[in-house]
Amino acid sequence: MTLANPQPPLTEPFRIGEVEIENRVLLAPLAGIGNWFVRLQARRFGAGLAVSEMISSFGLHHGDERTHREFLRLHPDEHPVALQLFGQEPEVMASAARTAAEAGADIIDINMGCPVRKVLKTGSGAALIDDPDRAVALCVAAREGSGLPVTCKVRSGTKTGDTRGLDLAVRLVEDGGAAAIGFHPRSAQVHHKGEPDYALARRLSEAIDVPMIISGGLSDADAALHAYEASGADAVMIARGALGYPWIFGELTGSGEAPQGNQEVVAELFWVMDSAADHLGPERAARYLRKFYPWYVERLDLEDRKALDQALQQSDSLESAREMVIEATGVEIETPTDSGLAVPAGSAR
Ligand SMILES: Cc1cc2nc3c(=O)[nH]c(=O)nc-3n(C[C@H](O)[C@H](O)[C@H](O)COP(=O)(O)O)c2cc1C
Repeated sequence: MTLANPQPPLTEPFRIGEVEIENRVLLAPLAGIGNWFVRLQARRFGAGLAVSEMISSFGLHHGDERTHREFLRLHPDEHPVALQLFGQEPEVMASAARTAAEAGADIIDINMGCPVRKVLKTGSGAALIDDPDRAVALCVAAREGSGLPVTCKVRSGTKTGDTRGLDLAVRLVEDGGAAAIGFHPRSAQVHHKGEPDYALARRLSEAIDVPMIISGGLSDADAALHAYEASGADAVMIARGALGYPWIFGELTGSGEAPQGNQEVVAELFWVMDSAADHLGPERAARYLRKFYPWYVERLDLEDRKALDQALQQSDSLESAREMVIEATGVEIETPTDSGLAVPAGSAR
């Protein structure tokens, strides 16, 4: 017996609208994390596409200086790139999508899954499941404003057992012209906990004729492959599985393997530190990176990871953090940017 439609391997290219994506392994949107250098890192390790952290459509529309400077900064080597916008006003969305396109985005993604109260209260994020007409209008507005393919990232529902996210996704494709759906089959109620419903995702993939990209529970390469197969998706989106572990993209695309020892992990952490300093300046970067350190420390082969973790949380400069890492691991990496991966300064476009 042969299967009617065998799934292509994750290494096979696919299209989102007119945009060709070189493989089926994507970096998911991650608020407060998915800036240009985290996206570039994912691409360096083999991701076919990286989606940005969520960006306020109001911030872009009103010309907020910091939103523009930090969120619209793209690296020339990260294309194609999707910028994710959130909001609930179609006119504002159209204007923000235009601005994102002018900044160099290749794809606009709309957040229809954020479960955070502050976002739900405004009627955006997962609240759009309760307001499908508005969701469709946002998709149309983003398409018309940007002239780019628009994708939507949707949850299965607002509460456990609710599957209206599937109906919304179908409408977004049929009435809104969405070029792909990122589907996270967990309800907004459970945030990021619990088993994703891949069977529901499979129903969605069979109901739409554009790519369905599966998100949720893709904690490592095996879990990602399982999600891909169980959901019948066209592509996978790695979220928490990529935190401090960009090697997952190489593992899934066959372009690389797990890091071979502390030297590789430390070199990558230092690349991240140099990039953050370039992005935010050294002082803000020192604070910003505190959330990144545990992800990399976890990957180190060390007797006392906890001690290094704690020390890094207390560090007040990039220099002191770097010294702590060198002392704890004994690896010899000169400072700064000896990782062989220079970060072009002022690479905003
Ligand atoms: C810290 C964090 C930030 C996130 N930020 C966003 C976001 O900005 N936009 C979005 O659509 N999803 C966001 N998500 C959801 C992820 O993209 C993904 O759907 C979710 O983590 C499930 O995948 P996982 O179980 O493989 O981590 C975020 C998740 C986490 C953990």
